[in-house]
Amino acid sequence: MSRNDRSEGDARLTRRRYVAGAGAVVTVGIAGCSDDPEDEFEEDDGTGDSGGDDTNGDSGGDAPDAEEGDLEIVHWWTAGGEEDAFNALLDGFREAHPDVEIVDNPAPGGAGSAIDTVIQNRVLDGNPPSTFQIWPGQALTPYTDADLLEDIGDSVWDDEMREAYLDDIIELSSPAGDLVAVPINIHRMNNLFYNVDVLDDAGVDATDIDDPQGLLDALETIDAETDAVPLAHQTQSPWSTLQLFEDVFIGQHGADEYVSFIEGGAADLEDEIRETLDLLAAYADHYPEDAGSISWDQGNDELIEGNAAFLHQGDWAAGQYEAAEGFEFAEDWDMVPFPGSDGVYHSVIDSFVFPTSNPSPEATEQFLNYAGTVDAQERFNPVKGSIPPRTDVPMDEFGAFLSRQFEDFENSTNQPPTIAHGTAVAPAIHSELEEAFANFNENLDVDTAYEAIRDAF
Ligand code: BGC
Repeated sequence: MSRNDRSEGDARLTRRRYVAGAGAVVTVGIAGCSDDPEDEFEEDDGTGDSGGDDTNGDSGGDAPDAEEGDLEIVHWWTAGGEEDAFNALLDGFREAHPDVEIVDNPAPGGAGSAIDTVIQNRVLDGNPPSTFQIWPGQALTPYTDADLLEDIGDSVWDDEMREAYLDDIIELSSPAGDLVAVPINIHRMNNLFYNVDVLDDAGVDATDIDDPQGLLDALETIDAETDAVPLAHQTQSPWSTLQLFEDVFIGQHGADEYVSFIEGGAADLEDEIRETLDLLAAYADHYPEDAGSISWDQGNDELIEGNAAFLHQGDWAAGQYEAAEGFEFAEDWDMVPFPGSDGVYHSVIDSFVFPTSNPSPEATEQFLNYAGTVDAQERFNPVKGSIPPRTDVPMDEFGAFLSRQFEDFENSTNQPPTIAHGTAVAPAIHSELEEAFANFNENLDVDTAYEAIRDAF
């Protein structure tokens, strides 16, 4: 259904229900650890993750030689499709503000795995970039607790913008009361992408897979019937296994249990968590041989090439398919909601913020204002593989896949936040869980992983 098939009033009404219940920010964990708010910043978790899964050792995101007043943007959108989307956003901004000099300073690494350290150091040193990419919700709280983000509730969030955005997204952008972020997209995480020909060759019908156990059966069939890698999963960096854990858990136990889990209920959910870990350990037999040294988009390249069958990933993976030559939705690739998670839109959101001690207050305000417009979100999201957080963006340019995602979003009964992408739990807990899954990727030890998960909360 295209956005134009419904009256604007209808669309606004339904989309305003977004993340019901999830906007309530989970506050377990970091509070009370220390009197110094700066101690709440995520520590290096020792997983070796700070280098990021796509990094090549460059010091991405470090302070560049920028002139005062230049707009320096730090982000991690350098993988297939992501870069095109970011460039589409910058093109729009340049048209609107041709006088602003942009310093594009990426810190590559899937799911922001390399950005935290560099940004935290720069912000704490009073040497921040003009703006940086960050998930709204819990990920913002170390910065708001330490008063390191400007309140942009008047300067950027005018009435027009407030009226157009989904209410719960506004809530995620103001974890401490003041509005401090401008969200630009809504991704879905609970996707199971697949190569149509590979599944046909194996005689597997993705729409017949009812639950996460059924996916294991399908992976075994692919393994027996084809030469393809059954699941194009990366384990170099722990975030992809953490997000897979989240969706297997939802697929097995439902979104309500998942919300209990992120609200701190791990100790009461021991059997459920162990069941999920057991199945994850069985999936691991079907990862690529080089899973430990590839990035998420390199895994996805194999799916595009017909060398892999399935990928569990956010719909940024669809941005990569769009960027690939001759790889068409429905003919060559398709997606089903992760088995057992029908009706759930497991959301991942990106935003930009206005750090204090800003090197370019005027240009930063112009950029944040622009990021909140229809024009910006209409250029960025179709290329990125996401849907817009504004309710009034025309959906004509979004293509068949994203139109279907949008429809699923409209019809979804749950839109829970994510751990792996920062909205659901405080950064300190997120960091502990990443460490637990870095270890699990190495040893597949269910007992140790369960204890680490329980203790993280
Ligand atoms: C971000 C996406 C990005 C993905 C992979 C997620 O955390 O929200 O925008 O494409 O990571 O890097």
